Parts: sequence; structure tokens; C-alpha cells
Amino acid sequence: MASKKSSVKTSTGSTQASNCIMRWVTRLSIIGLLVALGSYLDSVRERFYVFDPKSLHELSQAAIAAHGENMPGIIDHIVTNLTATYPSTQIAINPDQKEWMFNNAGGAMGAMYIIHASITEYLIIFGTPLGTEGHSGIHTADDYFNILVGEQWAFQPGGLELERYPAGSVHLMPRGVVKQYKMHKGCFALEYARGWIPPMLPFGFADTLTSTLDFPTFYRTARITGREMIRNLLIGKI
Ligand SMILES: *[C@@H]1O[C@H](CO)[C@@H](O)[C@H](O)[C@H]1NC(C)=O
Repeated sequence: MASKKSSVKTSTGSTQASNCIMRWVTRLSIIGLLVALGSYLDSVRERFYVFDPKSLHELSQAAIAAHGENMPGIIDHIVTNLTATYPSTQIAINPDQKEWMFNNAGGAMGAMYIIHASITEYLIIFGTPLGTEGHSGIHTADDYFNILVGEQWAFQPGGLELERYPAGSVHLMPRGVVKQYKMHKGCFALEYARGWIPPMLPFGFADTLTSTLDFPTFYRTARITGREMIRNLLIGKI
């Protein structure tokens, strides 16, 4: 009687063990597939890009040449040009040049107008007439900072001297690079990021959630970013 009971117990035990192994095999296979998919998508991410850094730099310089330090003129020049250059079936551009919101990130504070946001690119006007300073954040995208008016300064540990980016220049922050930056006095830039945008969003929201508690700005930023990403997904722009 006793021996029969124990043999039943053993067979149930081994069934449980093999179920458990099967569950782990399934989980590991799913993780393996996701990693493979992720690295595949990362290797082909350039296919999803519409804008390119060189023409955005040329456009920024042309806008500065035409409008000097007149920011409304520069912004209108850039948005009008982009809207004329790229068909609305290829990429969605937000034409509302009055749609500004505060942006607090990495200790720096400014305002931004989102010209474009999708899964692999964003294009914004960012800056402040007061000047600001902070941590760049660690990003999963390459970031091209086209200075439009004013000057941006930057620094990396070991640099000892400041890097200076005047109006008309580009400050490229490759994916993963981290800097301290300062928009000395006033500065506005056309910021173009290409890479994986969603993982950058927590950095963009962290200061608001842990410090400013400016929930109307949080809501406005989330709503407009989401709206622009969805507008792009609907036309097949990843
Ligand atoms: C947009 O700007 C670029 C750079 O200045 C220029 O070469 C191009 O002709 C402009 N396109 C339109 C449609 O205005």
C-alpha cells in the first residue's frame, strides 16, 4: 500500500517536472524570438527614416540666412519647406506652429513644438529665451541638434573645455553618448532624432512626474506625441 502510494507520487512529480521544463523551453523560445526580431528590426531601422540630417542642416542654414534671429520666420520657413517637400502620404507633419508646450528633462527646461513624431524619428523645435542647462539623457537614437539662434555649449567628462555650437552648426549626439549641455542665454534649435523613439519618452517625462508635477503639460505632451505617432502609423510611417 505504502509503496504503491509513493510510486504514484513519483510519476506525478516527474510529470510536473517535465511540464515545468516545457514551460521554460517555451518562455526561452519566445524571448529568443523577440531578441532575434529586435536585432533584425534594429539592423533595418534606416529603412523607416524619411528625413535626412544633411538636408535638415541645409534647410536650417537657409532659414537662418533668410530670417536672421526672427524665430517665427525661421520656424515658418522650415515647416513650409518640409510640408512642400514631403508628400502627406509619406510622412505626417504637424502644421500647427502655435502648439508649444514646456519640456523638463535631465534638469533642463525649455519649450518645444513637435513638428513630427513617429516610432523611428522625431523633429521638434526646442529652446528657451532664458537659457538652461542639464543632462542630455542616454538615448536610443542619434540626435542632431541644429542650432537656429543663440549658442549651445556641451561637455563630456575628461573634456575640460567646452564644446561650442553656434547658430547654423549641428551638434550631433550619437546614440548612447551622454553630455552635460547648456543653452547659454537664449537658444532655439531644430532637434532631429532618428532611432528608436519610444524608449526616449520616459526621460522626457521623468522630471515632470518626479519634480514639476505639471500634469497639464504631461497630458498635453503625451496627447500630442501619441496623436502624431498614430497619424504616422495610419499612413504606414513607422
Ligand atoms: C527646401 O529647402 C532646401 C534647402 O534650402 C531647398 O534646397 C529646397 O529647394 C526647398 N524646397 C522647397 C519645396 O521649398
